[in-house]
Amino acid sequence: MVMRGSLLNNHRRTVQRLRQMIGPLKIKLLLCFCIAFTAILLLTRASFKIDDDSTTTTPSLDPNSSHSKGYAILINTWKRYDLLKQSISHYATCPGLHSIHIVWSEPDPPSHSLDKILHHLVQKKNSRVELKFDINHEDSLNNRFKEIKDLDVDAVFSVDDDVIFPCSSVKLAFDVWQSAPHTMVGFVPRKVSVDQSQSQGNKDYYIYSGWWSVWWTGTYSMVLSKAAFFHKKYLRIYTNEMPASIRQFITKNRNCEDIAMSFLVANVSGAPPIWVKGKIYEIGSTGISSLGGHIERRTECVNRFVAEFGGMPLVSTSVKAIDSRGVWFW
Ligand SMILES: *[C@@H]1O[C@H](CO)[C@@H](O)[C@H](O)[C@H]1NC(C)=O
Repeated sequence: MVMRGSLLNNHRRTVQRLRQMIGPLKIKLLLCFCIAFTAILLLTRASFKIDDDSTTTTPSLDPNSSHSKGYAILINTWKRYDLLKQSISHYATCPGLHSIHIVWSEPDPPSHSLDKILHHLVQKKNSRVELKFDINHEDSLNNRFKEIKDLDVDAVFSVDDDVIFPCSSVKLAFDVWQSAPHTMVGFVPRKVSVDQSQSQGNKDYYIYSGWWSVWWTGTYSMVLSKAAFFHKKYLRIYTNEMPASIRQFITKNRNCEDIAMSFLVANVSGAPPIWVKGKIYEIGSTGISSLGGHIERRTECVNRFVAEFGGMPLVSTSVKAIDSRGVWFW
């Protein structure tokens, strides 16, 4: 009986001890997981850092390639000097920036004080970046695509003065463009599609649609030049080789220069544009696209340009380029 009692007691004690151990064991297991997770996070972070460093020093395989020299910013502006200052002081901090070209179409030339302030801003952020006003005497939307003489780099980042993209987004787009320098690479996709109900015979009628249509279908055929990279050769082609009737139409209607540029690039390259994921900060009030009749006017431009080009050059796609460091699962 005594033996039995002590055996039972022994048994109870082991169970109790086991119970006591399992409690902390669970916590220990959890702790181990936490530590392992943190370690993985820190390690991957460290490798991100290494990636970052190696890309900012730009190890180019071909040292003579003008791609490696960076890109020029072509900024379109109209009487919004505070936005211009804000944009320029931001982009001047971006690595890879070679020069800034301000497309100026106002009747009066830039004031001495504005010129001084902007040069000072750029000088303070990156003294190697060149800043230039491209002064135009005629007020036309075609001015934004005038050829830039003596540009040392091939890449042009065309951007409006009222949107700001973080340097990391600009760099991602520039990297993508370097892989596909003959097409447009940008942040604002738009879609053009055939409207069967309005097409007659073998003549297609196209409709231009806004962002929601891209969002819904995941398909697009243009990226707008309000924020896009393209090769500088397209400035020359736009100004000197594209039919003058298209430029005249754009001057008269004060719209659609960006659609014409998309048509032109697609006609030359035969390739779709590339949409890059990027953070957009809108710093100005909403522009022309919020005015009434916008979609109708853009649709009219598309159909007119299809006639001028003798067919639809745009190629649709559903590719989106993203920074893989920002995604967890693949
Ligand atoms: C489109 O490309 C074709 C073939 O390269 C060319 O002949 C034509 O002139 C281009 N059209 C326009 C409007 O630039």
